[in-house]
Amino acid sequence: MLFIRTTFFILLAAHWHLGLSCPQSDHSHPTREKAAEIARNNNARRDVRNVPAPKKIAIENVRVFDGEKLLPLRTVFINGDTIVPYVKGADVVDGNGGTLLPGLIDAHTHPSTVDHLETLSSFGVTTTIVASCQPEAICESIQNHTGLTDVRFSGLSANAPNSTHAKLLGLLPNETLTSPSQAPQFVDDQLAKGATFIKIVAEQPDSTTLDQDIMNALVDAAHAKGVRVACHAAGYAAADRALTARVDQLHHVPQDTPTDEPLIARILAQKAVSIPTLSIFRQFVMGGAAPPSAYSAANASAHELYKASVPILAGTDSNSNPTLGLPFGKALHDELELLVGAGMSTVDVLRSATVLAARHNLLFDRGVVAPGMRADLVLISGDPIANISATRDIQRVWIAGIEYEEVAAA
Ligand SMILES: *[C@@H]1O[C@H](CO)[C@@H](O)[C@H](O)[C@H]1NC(C)=O
Ligand SMILES: *[C@@H]1O[C@H](CO)[C@@H](O)[C@H](O)[C@H]1NC(C)=O
Ligand SMILES: *[C@@H]1O[C@H](CO)[C@@H](O)[C@H](O)[C@H]1NC(C)=O
Ligand SMILES: *[C@@H]1O[C@H](CO)[C@@H](O)[C@H](O)[C@H]1NC(C)=O
Ligand SMILES: *[C@@H]1O[C@H](CO)[C@@H](O)[C@H](O)[C@H]1NC(C)=O
Ligand SMILES: [Zn+2]
Repeated sequence: MLFIRTTFFILLAAHWHLGLSCPQSDHSHPTREKAAEIARNNNARRDVRNVPAPKKIAIENVRVFDGEKLLPLRTVFINGDTIVPYVKGADVVDGNGGTLLPGLIDAHTHPSTVDHLETLSSFGVTTTIVASCQPEAICESIQNHTGLTDVRFSGLSANAPNSTHAKLLGLLPNETLTSPSQAPQFVDDQLAKGATFIKIVAEQPDSTTLDQDIMNALVDAAHAKGVRVACHAAGYAAADRALTARVDQLHHVPQDTPTDEPLIARILAQKAVSIPTLSIFRQFVMGGAAPPSAYSAANASAHELYKASVPILAGTDSNSNPTLGLPFGKALHDELELLVGAGMSTVDVLRSATVLAARHNLLFDRGVVAPGMRADLVLISGDPIANISATRDIQRVWIAGIEYEEVAAA
């Protein structure tokens, strides 16, 4: 049993990572040359689209999700990139009695091209948290594309040199850590490259994985700089170590032993949050890369975390791997349904992709529809509190006040 389990984890970790960050089609990691070319192409597309200038807009005849309920029909005003109480001379948009949501936030993705941003935008994902940049050249190149999904990224993820993830990611020895003393420099390097948070990969502990000391030192160094730490932890023992290190965000949930009372007590005491990424677990099960029990365990973890009032953020692990990939944008709407399936209320699921995702990623200018906030808005036709699937029926999307016109039906 132990042998089978171990084998399973290695296989799953292997598949897992193939599905995480490979933008190319041959299942290996892109060469650094290839990454540089992708980044050049992305940069060449910055601000060359025919982006309409931000305008004054009045969105009439809409209900607004205020984080708890739908407010009665009203008009929401945008001036440039910001929601305002009122502005004169606005272009009028008829919301037809639909619902205006804050722009959706996917708290765990791996886009690598401007096309991926276009797809995210078309599904109303107006902000995305890119959970590690490997290869690094790519992350900056998908930032600041006016009128498209806003990107935050972590830089290199922290790994030990001989770990499963380090191998799958093709990390160079000098991109990995072997001693706690390297942690402050590692953190500084990522921040210097534009990272706004630090990502650690906690694998199931063995002789090749990151030592607890190093994980602790990374969290201390990040916290000393005022930045948060996200930790990949898809197994119980990994989550245990992540909590010992006092990470802020647990990404994925244990797919072996579901999160239980002792872990939850520590999560609550440390005010950590959970990003279950149920959609990637489902993808792995459907693709045959994980047994059905992995999904049941992940679902049970999400359920227990929610019942205990641990903040849950919606994240998908969307990526462009050709076999085990997960489609950008559409996957977030899937994730919302899966979180409802894990027993969350529709209101809390909407919060997981809006106000909570913003707050716990320190994005205080978004996540709610209110004057002064970034005009990131998604207009849908139905009532997502009555039925979460209504988020799929997208009518219009604005990103910092600029309408993204090619909306998709999720
Ligand atoms: C994107 O904009 C932010 C905020 O203005 C800035 O700090 C960052 O350097 C920019 N990055 C790129 C790649 O343009
Ligand atoms: C990684 O593996 C190489 C080759 O087996 C070995 O020389 C090296 O000491 C290992 N590094 C660590 C940190 O375990
Ligand atoms: C890491 O090593 C490679 C060659 O092995 C070198 O090209 C690169 O500059 C090094 N990176 C850092 C950050 O030292
Ligand atoms: C997920 O958890 C919920 C709440 O316990 C349960 O009702 C549902 O059947 C579970 N779904 C799966 C696929 O395990
Ligand atoms: C929610 O809407 C979807 C799509 O219209 C439908 O398939 C589903 O049955 C509805 N669910 C509930 C609980 O009404
Ligand atoms: Zn990921």
